Amino acid sequence: MAGVNSPSAPVVARAPGRVNLIGEHTDYNGGLCLPFAIGLATIAAVRPRGDDQLRVTSREAVPGDPHWQEYVVGVLAELRRIGWEVPGLDIDLVSTLPLGGGLASSAALECAVATAIAGLLGVPLDGAGRRLLAEACRRAETEHVGAPTGGMDQLAAMLGSDGHALLIDFADPDSPVTAPVSFPVAEDGLVLLVTDTRVRHVLADGDGGYAQRRREYARGHPRRRRHVVTENARVRDAVDAIGARAWARLGALMTASHASLRDDYEVSVPQLDQVVDTGLEAGALGARMTGGGFGGCALTLVAADRAGVVREAVDAAYAERGWAPPRHHLVEPGPGAEVLRGIG
Ligand code: GLA
Repeated sequence: MAGVNSPSAPVVARAPGRVNLIGEHTDYNGGLCLPFAIGLATIAAVRPRGDDQLRVTSREAVPGDPHWQEYVVGVLAELRRIGWEVPGLDIDLVSTLPLGGGLASSAALECAVATAIAGLLGVPLDGAGRRLLAEACRRAETEHVGAPTGGMDQLAAMLGSDGHALLIDFADPDSPVTAPVSFPVAEDGLVLLVTDTRVRHVLADGDGGYAQRRREYARGHPRRRRHVVTENARVRDAVDAIGARAWARLGALMTASHASLRDDYEVSVPQLDQVVDTGLEAGALGARMTGGGFGGCALTLVAADRAGVVREAVDAAYAERGWAPPRHHLVEPGPGAEVLRGIG
């Protein structure tokens, strides 16, 4: 392992959040998922210190997640565990992702820090290097923070590519198989609308939600199992639908995924169901919750010229119920983590 050259300026890296198109709560169950990296991202600037201290500053208030500094500590610990000579660092963070909002903000934070450190140490970010970092970041989250998540978010952040979703098969959880899937929705006049419900969740153990679902699945709970079996089939069908540009079919699969997450896996909340139902009534092709659930974001596939109608209908439904207004983002598949400014 190369030692650290002493850069005068910090090494800066960016890692994206992700949207999961379909294949939810399958990654830790040996199943399939189909996420893509988005434009919203976290940027980390790292600079070596003269001592072995770690100092982390963030421009964002992170009220929803008391663990955010632990993610950074975990990444450093994991990189050192695999033999990287990581020095003491000053790390400065800035993010455009809603934190704790279901778009994998924690994975983006981990991967931005890890990618910047790779840049600092001169480790190449080829395919193998990216997988290594994804795994180190997943372990940072599960071993150090205690959030028992799967590996989808980190792989999406490290292996995402422009215009493509990423099919991930976790049949062998120690060595997930990935394949890019060309996803040309925009060419056919469609957009993907992410709606942040503003309901927040925490995935670390003890939240009674995500960790509980994992345990129930492992113990053979029939409806949890049925979700995973049917969801895996929907991922396969979705890949075929995308290949055929059968967008109405893809939309129907998304909506069926949401019903299964709501009724069988039971990880939805009224706000997510409302966004989905209202979007469909307003003419969307399909809609579903995306990410771990218990709040966070919904994803709606809609014709570009209907997107405004869907947004307004969702806003009106929220106002009618007296809920704090949701936030909307248009997303498209973008590149994975990258070093923006290297050494020298
Ligand atoms: C969170 C986890 C992922 C995955 C999803 C649900 O985003 O971090 O590993 O389990 O929930 O699909």
